[in-house]
Amino acid sequence: MRGIGTPGITKLVGHTPLLRVRIFEREFPKVEVYAKAEWFNPGGSVKDRAALAMIEDGERTGALTLEKTIVDSTSGNTGIAYALIGAAKGYPVKLVMPGNVSAERKALVTAFGAEIVYSDAGEGSDGAIRMVRELVEREPDRYFYPDQYSNPANPRAHYEGTAVEILEQTGGRITHFVAGLGTTGTFVGTSRRLKEHDASIKAIAVEPDDAFHGLEGLKHLPTAIVPRIWDASLADEVVGCPTEPAYELARALARSEGLLVGHSSGAALWGVRRLAERIHEGVVVTVFPDSGDRYLSTGLYGSTRR
Ligand SMILES: Cc1ncc(COP(=O)(O)O)c(C=O)c1O
Repeated sequence: MRGIGTPGITKLVGHTPLLRVRIFEREFPKVEVYAKAEWFNPGGSVKDRAALAMIEDGERTGALTLEKTIVDSTSGNTGIAYALIGAAKGYPVKLVMPGNVSAERKALVTAFGAEIVYSDAGEGSDGAIRMVRELVEREPDRYFYPDQYSNPANPRAHYEGTAVEILEQTGGRITHFVAGLGTTGTFVGTSRRLKEHDASIKAIAVEPDDAFHGLEGLKHLPTAIVPRIWDASLADEVVGCPTEPAYELARALARSEGLLVGHSSGAALWGVRRLAERIHEGVVVTVFPDSGDRYLSTGLYGSTRR
């Protein structure tokens, strides 16, 4: 039984710290760089925000009841978020994942009691999307399918959370927002609110530069199933990030600033660097979606090169 005044773990989602990042300071002294440290969420990633918003939206509309199983496709972080929140709220969780996701992710999801169904690794996240759609079509009454690629509650979590926090934490000084594209929820929801607040704020989206990439969590939109929530009108620019330079920036960040981040944070930082080369002055905010300790088995930090 929960006592009065003892909030559950889901109350800790959001309100993440905004960190000053100094890695480019010498090169671009007039560009202030900040990053939302999303691994401070209880599930360890930015995806807690979207998962909680979609689950609570389902509860509000009656689409999610205690007889249903939460099912979705996920490259990992959303699955961990569903598994944690499902456990906290009492819902069974079933996750379709490409067979090649990292060992840490599989272990975490299993620890929270979720069931994993593997889709073809070669078909990536799109293969997982196709498989979950088949499962739901076969037994629609059994499942609550949040569908993070189409659910407006995903970007709304960032519209109402991430963006408002950024405006508060920068005192409204932000001039540029940079974020990677996965489901596109983070970029779309945050950029929409920031631009409503101040139309001069520029939003730069970062995607992998190729269909075959090593930036787990991110999507190459030209060759992927384009998420229904994607809104291209919000992007002042979409830049394609190569895999290896993103890895190198993630490694450099760990060594120079004590920040251990995941691949997609390296990609976001690559986008920030490219921008800094161009603007020379500004207050740039990005999002670091998760921590590097989730990728230790993938070799991201295996290199000893300096
Ligand atoms: C590690 C990581 N980075 C970035 C993203 C992209 O975030 P979004 O889905 O909000 O576009 C995700 C989403 O799954 C992710 O897991």
